[in-house]
Amino acid sequence: MSDVQTESSKLVESAAFQTARDQLVTLVAQASARITGVRGASSPAHSDRLKRDLLEFQKDRGRDLYFPYLASGLGNGPFVELEDGSVKYDLITGIGIHFFGHSHPELMKEALTATGADIYQGNLQPGHEASSLLRAVLSRVEDSRLSHGWITTCGTMANEIALKIIRQKKFPAHHVLAFSDCFAGRSTAMQEITDNPKYREGQPVHGEVHYLPFYQPKLGLQESIRLTLEAMCGHLSRYPGKIAAIMMEPVQGEGGFNFAPQEYYVAVFEAARKVGLAIWLDEIQSFGRTGQLFAFQTFGLQKYVDVVTTAKMLHASMVLFTDEYNPKPGLVAGTFTGTSASLRVARKVVELLDDGYYGADGRIARLSARFAANIARLADGPCRGMIGERRNIGGMIAFEPFLGTMDDVKAVLTKLFELGVVAFQCGHGPMLVRLLPPFGVMTEAQVDEACLIIEKAVLSVASERTATRGGGK
Ligand SMILES: Cc1ncc(COP(=O)(O)O)c(C=O)c1O
Repeated sequence: MSDVQTESSKLVESAAFQTARDQLVTLVAQASARITGVRGASSPAHSDRLKRDLLEFQKDRGRDLYFPYLASGLGNGPFVELEDGSVKYDLITGIGIHFFGHSHPELMKEALTATGADIYQGNLQPGHEASSLLRAVLSRVEDSRLSHGWITTCGTMANEIALKIIRQKKFPAHHVLAFSDCFAGRSTAMQEITDNPKYREGQPVHGEVHYLPFYQPKLGLQESIRLTLEAMCGHLSRYPGKIAAIMMEPVQGEGGFNFAPQEYYVAVFEAARKVGLAIWLDEIQSFGRTGQLFAFQTFGLQKYVDVVTTAKMLHASMVLFTDEYNPKPGLVAGTFTGTSASLRVARKVVELLDDGYYGADGRIARLSARFAANIARLADGPCRGMIGERRNIGGMIAFEPFLGTMDDVKAVLTKLFELGVVAFQCGHGPMLVRLLPPFGVMTEAQVDEACLIIEKAVLSVASERTATRGGGK
């Protein structure tokens, strides 16, 4: 116990508080232990209630949900319980949040300890939860030039801050080079960077974002580098003095888990540095998943990064930057930084990841290889001709069902959901089934079981299609 105590620290360090909190954690663990595997709705009444709640929610939102999914939120390992009492493998984890599954006791403990602090924290009056989270992350990127950071409320906001601090530093240059198929978020500025016209329908476009082709395995390393640098030179000469930054997801998320060999990133960033562009990495989806805390560490790109953003599995969001990019007062602020619970949980996530997850023999690499072997087995065996491209880096796994059309992916995702696996889509051409599995809590046996469900889903879609074609004859 520290000798400098506040009423709050005395409270949360007291035996009474800790006993009560630990009793709650134990109660959660006992309930969670009753969630042991995939199962259907608890009763027709549960089913009806979920249907009713979904109808009302969808009416209020003005739009259907992608899946008939309302979570109770309780879970165990990779399993999550839904409102109807059914249980599914959560292999998409809220598009990357729940790397440690649902109801993880260590994270629950942090959330409960936060009852000794403010519910919500802000930039004017932060608590030690914010300072210790920032320190925890900065102390793990000491191999880079990143020396400061801001905590904010979502990935999009972190990217907004990144763009503003780069533009301030590079003024009057303000254009951005981004990559084909990239995703940056949903704000007015980020939907312009995002390479998807559907996401900016009816929105003004200011022509300040110029695209570069990303690494394409089919073209090989040298040709990919050549095409990227050629496009970069073209934009630089078309907009002299206007381009401030190059923005890249080192592993594209929404774009289909595209990534490159280290030499590609080095060639692109060397060229960008030579012409004075800020190097801005979006690691909102890749953070924590590629076998190091950041993918720029996995690919050995520490010396290039000027600004990096993260969110999702951190349970908070953050932009980190070098001293050179530290903005002038007034540029960056905002009321909220997050709940005390989410800030404490975020620090714990970073600490838990230190413990056996990284490196060639780490848990992420082992589970990733197990997934890859399973999907390869399906593609070469029972699902031959039904699984095309496969992409796999750490805890980011994707495969192309059938011809990789929107219909193919939707059919497999719907069948997976019915059979007890929640997954999602990514990629543009082809489209892929996207998995961001909870490797923080998943076992190898569970990877095998989940892949058997994937096999069943793909085969079942194939046979239903055959039956439909046969029936039409
Ligand atoms: C690479 C990337 N950037 C930005 C975002 C936006 O983050 P958020 O949805 O938290 O605003 C996402 C979210 O999917 C993302 O994957």
